[in-house]
Amino acid sequence: MAGRIPQRFIDDLLARTDIVDVIGSRVQLKKTGRNHSALCPFHQEKSPSFTVSADKQFYHCFGCGESGNALRFIMEFDRLNFPEAIEALAGRAGMEVPREGESDEQRQQAKVQAKRQEEAVNLLELGTRFYQQQLASASAQQAHEYLARRGLSDDIVSRYAIGYAPAGWDVLKRHLSDKGVDENVQVEYGLLVKKEETGRSWDRFRDRVIFPIRDWKGRTIGFGGRVLGDEKPKYLNSPESPVFHKGRELYGLYETRVQSKRPERMLIVEGYMDVVALAQHGVDYAVATLGTATTEEHLRRLFRLVDEVVFCFDGDAAGRQAAHRALNTVLPLMIDGRQARFLFLPEGEDPDSLVRQEGRDAFEQRIVRAGSLTEYLFDHAGEGRDLRRIEDRERFASAVLEGIKRLPQGLLKSLLMRELSERTGLERGTLEELSEGNARSGVAAQIASQPSRQQEHRAGHQAPATAKFSPRRQQGAATLSTSGRILHLIVHSPSLVESLPEGEAWCPEDDDGQLLLEVVRLIRAGGYRSSQVLLAHFHGSSHGSRLLALLQREPLIPGPLRHREVEVLVAHFEQQRQRSSPERELEALQARERNGEKLTREEAGRLWQLICEIKR
Ligand code: UTP
Ligand code: MN
Repeated sequence: MAGRIPQRFIDDLLARTDIVDVIGSRVQLKKTGRNHSALCPFHQEKSPSFTVSADKQFYHCFGCGESGNALRFIMEFDRLNFPEAIEALAGRAGMEVPREGESDEQRQQAKVQAKRQEEAVNLLELGTRFYQQQLASASAQQAHEYLARRGLSDDIVSRYAIGYAPAGWDVLKRHLSDKGVDENVQVEYGLLVKKEETGRSWDRFRDRVIFPIRDWKGRTIGFGGRVLGDEKPKYLNSPESPVFHKGRELYGLYETRVQSKRPERMLIVEGYMDVVALAQHGVDYAVATLGTATTEEHLRRLFRLVDEVVFCFDGDAAGRQAAHRALNTVLPLMIDGRQARFLFLPEGEDPDSLVRQEGRDAFEQRIVRAGSLTEYLFDHAGEGRDLRRIEDRERFASAVLEGIKRLPQGLLKSLLMRELSERTGLERGTLEELSEGNARSGVAAQIASQPSRQQEHRAGHQAPATAKFSPRRQQGAATLSTSGRILHLIVHSPSLVESLPEGEAWCPEDDDGQLLLEVVRLIRAGGYRSSQVLLAHFHGSSHGSRLLALLQREPLIPGPLRHREVEVLVAHFEQQRQRSSPERELEALQARERNGEKLTREEAGRLWQLICEIKR
């Protein structure tokens, strides 16, 4: 592996780079006073809310919240990773990127590595071409029949570069080895499967229809392969590799971009065949995730191309579950002007089967009529609840609020609040307070004390004035301080100590903070690996009873997510501390920026605010 890029070099490189040049060479900038402005390249808009400050070497979009320095811009706009972006900037400045503690030999190795990366892409291109040639050969009779049966024309087959992997065990391997491609490289990029024990390797894809997966620039990064019959598994996919990341890539994105530069909306479906069949029928704006749930990164990518994303789900239980997950992923991205809709298909159908049955127009009618995010959010929260009953109405309100809380500030958020207020009869003020997350002051009391309009109207309905908001959600971490919440998690899983920063400076000095530090010291000193041993250590003291109380309540956060939660809580301390001085806060945010780190919308907005304040 190449060593780290020295921070000094990055600072130096940024000092020599003018963000106005960098952005100006990619986006049309207009000078407005001391700053420059433009239509934001990261979301669609009609009037410019994208601003570049030459003084601060920083960009910010007031519309979508994207922001950063020149490095960040290159990463986002050119879709490069951190070292690649450094290389790109360094290339412009005519500088060579050094690596920390790098000997000549290592520098040489790094070059070899870079060359290999390029070779990998070439290798996968070779693979694509090989599979395409195979499809054209006489041995591919059955594959042809299969594709024809599925209604795919030559045009679509070639647009998606669909191919065929022949039935032998090492046809591709021999082909690539003849071209001098190292066997290990073929394994690394997933073309061959290698059995470690025997050292034998063979073609991963055999007797399958091959769908090359391409990145947004059209470079092949992996493959999917489908059997011709009913054998299992139906689909095989390339494994993750240095160039292939399932959480990031979408099948069909490149082909869509090539076909229709600016589609109005994008449709997210489940399968390769769905994408291809839809394109065959003229719906050429569908993409598929690669056997994973839709990630935020997928969605960010799509929202850069279009304002509207339509999720497509099967009408079964799995589909509903996937929809719920998609809802949670998309909510934080719903800045004003964006739309998300949820299309549920009839049970037993998928986009491929439907579009073949009913054709493009009928299918597009379904897309146009698909429920909005708002409708879905309310429907989902209301599922299985009788909104005439006060308890159900309260649970309904809190479920919707959970969703609303995830939304960024904006019109949609306030529209939803109004809608929720109308549907539940709860005052907006109450809802707003609730959604600000001050659950600690007692959601129950607030909701219970709020008379419901519907409730007043409904004669004969038992309206218990003392109705309690379900206490189920409250008993968890809500009444704990931040240090208490960390302590709570650590008492249950002592190994979480490894997620804490080194030293003790991060820890606040409140009551639970002091106990937390003691516990951390003990665990770090070794010997205390289980909750019970910890408890025994403090037995008989007030600390002991505190720990026991914490141990008796099960954390609501599932085990695998706890270490992330600890990190978030610690970051929260850090933030609070830094807030004490605007200069320190600015410095800290800028330092993270410089490192190419992605700030959240809130942080970026805060950074911009600080810049303006401190300048004044
Ligand atoms: P489906 O089983 O719904 O298949 O898998 P499909 O798309 O309808 O395929 P056809 O119409 O039978 O050809 C949907 C997606 O799930 C992943 C693939 O990405 C597939 O496109 N999958 C499915 C696998 O990775 N492996 C499998 O064995 C099955
Ligand atoms: Mn199908």
